[in-house]
Amino acid sequence: MNATEHPRRVRVGLGERDYEVVIGPGLIDRAGRLLTPFLPRRRTVIVTDANVAAHHGERLASALEAGGIAVDMIALPPGEETKSFAGLEDLCARLLALKLDRGDVLTVFGGGVVGDLAGFAAAIYKRGIDFVQIPTTLLAQVDSSVGGKTAIDTPAGKNLIGAFHQPRAVLADLDVLATLPAREVRAGYAEVLKYGLLGDADFFDWLEANGEAVLRLETGPLAYAIARSVEMKAEIVVEDEREVGRRALLNLGHTFAHALESETGFGSALLHGEAVGIGCALAFRLSAELGLCSPEDAQRAECTIAKAGLPTRLHALSSAPFQADRLLDHMQQDKKAEGGRLVFVLARAIGQAFTAKDVDRDAVLRFLIAEGARP
Ligand code: GLY
Repeated sequence: MNATEHPRRVRVGLGERDYEVVIGPGLIDRAGRLLTPFLPRRRTVIVTDANVAAHHGERLASALEAGGIAVDMIALPPGEETKSFAGLEDLCARLLALKLDRGDVLTVFGGGVVGDLAGFAAAIYKRGIDFVQIPTTLLAQVDSSVGGKTAIDTPAGKNLIGAFHQPRAVLADLDVLATLPAREVRAGYAEVLKYGLLGDADFFDWLEANGEAVLRLETGPLAYAIARSVEMKAEIVVEDEREVGRRALLNLGHTFAHALESETGFGSALLHGEAVGIGCALAFRLSAELGLCSPEDAQRAECTIAKAGLPTRLHALSSAPFQADRLLDHMQQDKKAEGGRLVFVLARAIGQAFTAKDVDRDAVLRFLIAEGARP
């Protein structure tokens, strides 16, 4: 990829559900023109949260209106609690009150919570309407806005109720990232590192050299890092849209991450991306412990994650110490677990992840205790 070309475009080649992810600065201001082809009725409802609405809502609404598109806006309460049955019911009621019909298209404008919830509402509203995504966090730009996973949480766990529903287009505007807290940028960057770690050693090398520039949100390196991440995700999603095989690799670090998030309450104590960062470090160390990858690769993964200001060790987390058997129980309830057997994404080297089914529970227990969890 040319390092200076803007915007970048990555195609998610899913046949009749094919779409493009456009990546670059200034896209919100051009949203009228960029989204017109997907809004044949010249009308849309922006679904966002109150924080994003306060920072960027007016700008997006004006840009769409300047393109001749009539706009309504629904600003949801920010935070994971909104991604619930109650939040879904409220959103659907508001869409019904606006009398949207099946030819209308939602503009989903926000981070992962809004994307998952409003994407799911689009999947079920009148048996399914189209939506476009304008993700406003780094994490949503490189992961959750692409690939069609939509969901809500229930008391039994995160993302357990949902649907696959692909957007018609994704605009990843680099400028919106400037208003994100630095901690959110680092958390999103963990998912970028994940792509290098799981499948592209050259990209990981590049991130080792350019990670600081990406974290400083320098346009060229940032656009390349997002585009390469989305390209890798698109390639995997095209091969395995419904996660019957290779798509599970995108869950590198996530078995550990979900267990830690369950113990820390899925909130600001440990952001999802931070959990993915420590989860990737743990997955590489477990791989080394099981003799699957070299200790040098595990150490290199850890150093790069730590250099980005992300946690890599259990004792660094404010909720430590963790109870090893509780972490294991969460892992066995993970969506990926099959009949209670532990499923992990492990690695043979940097850029060479694979799915390991039926990992020995005692080996994981010993590993967690060696990592500082309580027996
Ligand atoms: N976030 C993992 C996936 O989309 O499959």
